[in-house]
Amino acid sequence: MAFNLKGRSLLTLKTFSAEEIAFLLDLSRQVKRERRAGNRQQRFLGLTLALLFEKRSTRTRCAFETAFGEEGGHPVFLSSADIQLGAKESIEDTARVLGRMFDAIQFRGFSHDTVEKLAEYSGVPVYNGLTDRFHPTQALADLLTVEEVFGSLRGRKLVFVGDGRNNVAASLCIGSVKTGLDCTIVAPQQLQPAAELMSYCHDIAGQSGARLEVTADITAGVKGADVIYTDVWISMGEEEKQKERLDLLRSYQVDGAMMAKTGKDSTIFMHCLPAVKSNEVSFEVIESAASRVWDQAENRKHTIKALILATL
Ligand code: CP
Ligand code: NVA
Repeated sequence: MAFNLKGRSLLTLKTFSAEEIAFLLDLSRQVKRERRAGNRQQRFLGLTLALLFEKRSTRTRCAFETAFGEEGGHPVFLSSADIQLGAKESIEDTARVLGRMFDAIQFRGFSHDTVEKLAEYSGVPVYNGLTDRFHPTQALADLLTVEEVFGSLRGRKLVFVGDGRNNVAASLCIGSVKTGLDCTIVAPQQLQPAAELMSYCHDIAGQSGARLEVTADITAGVKGADVIYTDVWISMGEEEKQKERLDLLRSYQVDGAMMAKTGKDSTIFMHCLPAVKSNEVSFEVIESAASRVWDQAENRKHTIKALILATL
């Protein structure tokens, strides 16, 4: 079923319904098939996209630039070193100027308030390419990857292990409960998701039938997992927390022994990347046949193209 998402921003998956997410995943599969078949289109011809980056990026930047550029669009990369965003010029003023020149804006940075202000003041669709709180375009690629491997999301069990408070865990949790994918967060108490987010996710899970669980117990948490997912222990902007995080998370490394605890030999390993091998994941697991990290990375591009196609 087609949905009209024209003009919509994606700041968090909270504002997208399960049906709208399913529609975006369908469209992602379509654009992926086209790309694989060498069917080149020019659906963004004459359109412009501002790519605002306060933090570094490989996948997100390249996914937006290639998805938009190969269809005839003109992406413009603007790092904090290039523009005045929040420095000499307010976010509101920057948003109003960019909205007069660009058809859409992508923002990656620190404060989630910034991406909200960009959406409020620019008058064009704004895509959140990661803030301290959420990483919704990552979650879209992750859901597509799980669906490709298992055929469907409903009834499968995804376990996120590690820093359960971070942006990737938050978006994955929202995306999972919306789509009926069971979600378990395995993290030490100090790094478990905020109560407010969990209460939101519990409400959604109640409607979709997804199971949602948070635990510090690795053995109980990973049992029966179809997917074990992890992310870096120290996110961008948290560098001073290095020692504290290593102390808290050392026993939460995804290694062969943890993969075996699922009790399934079909369990896959996922990571949004970049990975710090031998911190959150062992070299052995990320390089194993169970690892789907490169498919996930590729799917960033297809899901981002689908998102732009649907909203522009
Ligand atoms: N997964 C992800 O967002 O990667 P980048 O930081 O390279 O964009
Ligand atoms: N949680 C990580 C994700 C990187 C894609 C970070 O924010 O640095």
